[in-house]
Amino acid sequence: MTSLFEPAQFGALALAHRVVMAPLTRLRSAQPGDIPTALNAEYYGQRASQGGLLITEATDIADDARGYPGAPGIHSPEQIAGWRLATDAVHAKGGLIVNQLWHCGRISHSSMRPDGSVPVAPSAIAAPGGHVNVRGEGVAFETPHALEVRELAAVVASFRQAAVNAKDAGFDGIEVHGANGYLLDQFLRDGSNQRTDVYGGNFENRTRFLLEVVDAVAGVWGAARVGVRLSPWGSFNGMSDSDTGALFDYVVAALATRGLAYLHLVEPRADQNSDVNALNADAPDVASRFKRIFGGPVIAAGGFTRETGEAAVAAGNADAIAFGRLFIANPDLPERFRQGAALNRHDRSTFYGGGAKGYTDYPALG
Ligand SMILES: Cc1cc2nc3c(=O)[nH]c(=O)nc-3n(C[C@H](O)[C@H](O)[C@H](O)COP(=O)(O)O)c2cc1C
Repeated sequence: MTSLFEPAQFGALALAHRVVMAPLTRLRSAQPGDIPTALNAEYYGQRASQGGLLITEATDIADDARGYPGAPGIHSPEQIAGWRLATDAVHAKGGLIVNQLWHCGRISHSSMRPDGSVPVAPSAIAAPGGHVNVRGEGVAFETPHALEVRELAAVVASFRQAAVNAKDAGFDGIEVHGANGYLLDQFLRDGSNQRTDVYGGNFENRTRFLLEVVDAVAGVWGAARVGVRLSPWGSFNGMSDSDTGALFDYVVAALATRGLAYLHLVEPRADQNSDVNALNADAPDVASRFKRIFGGPVIAAGGFTRETGEAAVAAGNADAIAFGRLFIANPDLPERFRQGAALNRHDRSTFYGGGAKGYTDYPALG
């Protein structure tokens, strides 16, 4: 039986243990410019461990990919230099760090976009409910502009350039953010993708854009340093599909042919806006279902504790576990797990925005 503290080889990434830091948006980049800071580097450095894998917060691939004020980018020289501070801090402790590349699609607002135009999406279907504008005030979602085919090529080019920039910033690889209702997920699911061209309709067509992005990024890094995050059955950001299981069986089978470092799956149990971890009653165990299809390394995330994480890895349902809220509150989470030490409790009020409070001031052991 495999334990959380056995090494693992994920493509070209050699992990000394299987306690992974989940991607966590914290909205603390320097403004204007969405630039990672020394404080951000301190935060990642605190959470690094020998051979431990960290996944960064979702990072904008371009100015027109933004959706949350305060999120960092990886498209300007200043941002690349800022990220270099974080990758150096993690490498100084022998850790690994991959950059989660993000385009928000319709989960944005015209006030955040460089030319003031409405956000973009596969189809002109607004997400239900509301979002924030550039000043962080609540606003209704706007009806997005349906990307034209020639505009899609520009988005793929932005992903490719962001991957090049991430290399310059010293990362160990890339995670493509295909989860949680952002642009790539919007293309996958028919609740948000009603296109009638080769990017909509059947599974092959709806998966096409994700694969173009994955292949572009893999062209820069090699597939063995690229992971992909998916959230089948996740309903965050108003996502739905008429045949979720069959759709993601197809998506994962297509990804399985590409020799990726890993597939990262979000179990549909953790509502990230509350601390209720109830499993979605209609959903199967996502990691074990798709691990069978993917074949390669799988990271599972979503409401795991040390005990349930150990059990998932021991059962062979996942190869590693990504922890989100536990890593926010416990900078030395792998060591605490190893020792069976008590855990700090997170403070939800400091998740997004602000400074060191609730960010770099959670105590380490000793
Ligand atoms: C504050 C916060 C920010 C998050 N930001 C991201 C993100 O940038 N990218 C992403 O893929 N998931 C994001 N998530 C989801 C987490 O990666 C993770 O899947 C979720 O928190 C469930 O894991 P947990 O129960 O261990 O916290 C975020 C979650 C939280 C709580």
